[in-house]
Amino acid sequence: MAEYVIAIDQGTTSTRAIVFDHSGSIVSTGQKEHEQIFPQAGWVEHDPKEIWDNTREVIGQALSKANITRHDITAIGITNQRETAVVWDKNTGEPVYNAIVWQDTRTQKIVDRLADGDVERYKKKVGLPLATYFSGTKIVWILENVDGAREKAEAGDLLFGTTDTWVLWNLTGGTDGGVHATDVTNASRTLFMDLESLSWDESILKDFGVPASMLPEIRSSSEVYGTASSSSLLREVPIAGILGDQQAATFGQAAFDTGESKNTYGTGNFLIFNTGEEIIHSKNGLLTTLGYKLGDAKPHYALEGSIAVTGSLIQWLRDNIGLISSAPEIEELAKTVEDNGGVYFVPAFSGLFAPYWRSDARGALVGLTRYVNKGHIARAALEATAFQTREVLDAVNADSGVDLTELKVDGGMIANNTLMQFQADILGVPVVRPVVAETTALGAAYAAGLATGFWADLDDLRKNWQEDSRWTPNMEDDERDRQLRLWKKAVTKTFDWVD
Ligand code: G3P
Repeated sequence: MAEYVIAIDQGTTSTRAIVFDHSGSIVSTGQKEHEQIFPQAGWVEHDPKEIWDNTREVIGQALSKANITRHDITAIGITNQRETAVVWDKNTGEPVYNAIVWQDTRTQKIVDRLADGDVERYKKKVGLPLATYFSGTKIVWILENVDGAREKAEAGDLLFGTTDTWVLWNLTGGTDGGVHATDVTNASRTLFMDLESLSWDESILKDFGVPASMLPEIRSSSEVYGTASSSSLLREVPIAGILGDQQAATFGQAAFDTGESKNTYGTGNFLIFNTGEEIIHSKNGLLTTLGYKLGDAKPHYALEGSIAVTGSLIQWLRDNIGLISSAPEIEELAKTVEDNGGVYFVPAFSGLFAPYWRSDARGALVGLTRYVNKGHIARAALEATAFQTREVLDAVNADSGVDLTELKVDGGMIANNTLMQFQADILGVPVVRPVVAETTALGAAYAAGLATGFWADLDDLRKNWQEDSRWTPNMEDDERDRQLRLWKKAVTKTFDWVD
């Protein structure tokens, strides 16, 4: 049998291909960033063609760095930014519009119209409140605003997919027999999937005016969906795992069982808490979502605390403000001061997600005095990630009735020691990082490797998880309470900013 599995991680800022061996160690990586397109305030787009070109390129990079070919690869896993919507013509393969990214808030009016005063009207069925975040509202925008789109969609010529589906369709041949499918985790982010039956809900589709013919087939997270087409470097290799990136990271952290969780520090932060076979409806602002489904086995559900802006705040300070010239500099700058100097930075750039779900919120920097310098602002920006995570963890504890005793973390920002220490301090529980921190790609590789027999079962995968570092809390309770109180006050300053 071939020795490796490859995972394609189609993320918000870049696309990566990572080759893993049987121990779950990284053999090689290919990576390429794509353009972030901001046509107007609140709008965020990606070019789907660029994403597909980059996907092919990074596969090539990963294979050549490891000096291997498709014959060494037993299966392909796909993981992706989850709610980003692509609509394309199935006859030409051309997107009818750019991908509308999960952070984009242009669909607010569509949300208000569909909600008709009750943003929770579908929550029981789909686990989500009506919000601009989810892909369903973005399809509606395309159908209503792109010339000819509705007619074509009704004639059955248009396909929708999140980027997993876009990559899968192209990888399996595109206009020449491409497979149009997604997995349950991505489907659970559309607003259209019934959590119990795991199928598209016709009455919701009717309310949204979205033809069912546009939607991909919903499959499990671990099965063979198809094989890579003859034009691919991975020709004939089966694509056998698909998981939305946050669920993939949970899987890669081996958080397979009820009560296990992880927090990923990426563009945004996403804390996922595995609730097993039980669908739990949050009373504290969390989403109910699919965790994973392995072939014909029963699905695992999860509660999720989604935070829209964490790492992207650091990018914004670099690209829009010029406070730093590279992301790691934020830590050096933050270390020039002892504390935040009384400054709180609430990055409500896409409104606030969990646990508030306030689309009327916009960012605020408060507590400014003549004393404040760049270091304090850098520190406040880092601390914003930790405070937002604390609020989500409180919601998880309240919904589940058990207090998490430690937090498993992954994602780019965990390289930042200052942030991780502050995170442990503000949570009051240890923060733990695994040896293989690329858990998103690893989770997709695991799903693909399980479906093809590369790994035998979940126990085989559990053995691969190893602790690398641990940060323990080192803050007095009074100080923690004071900081949280001020943070919560700062959050209230962001409300009601949209006319
Ligand atoms: O829900 C959005 C999430 O899937 C995006 O994750 O890591 O690409 O920012 P990331």
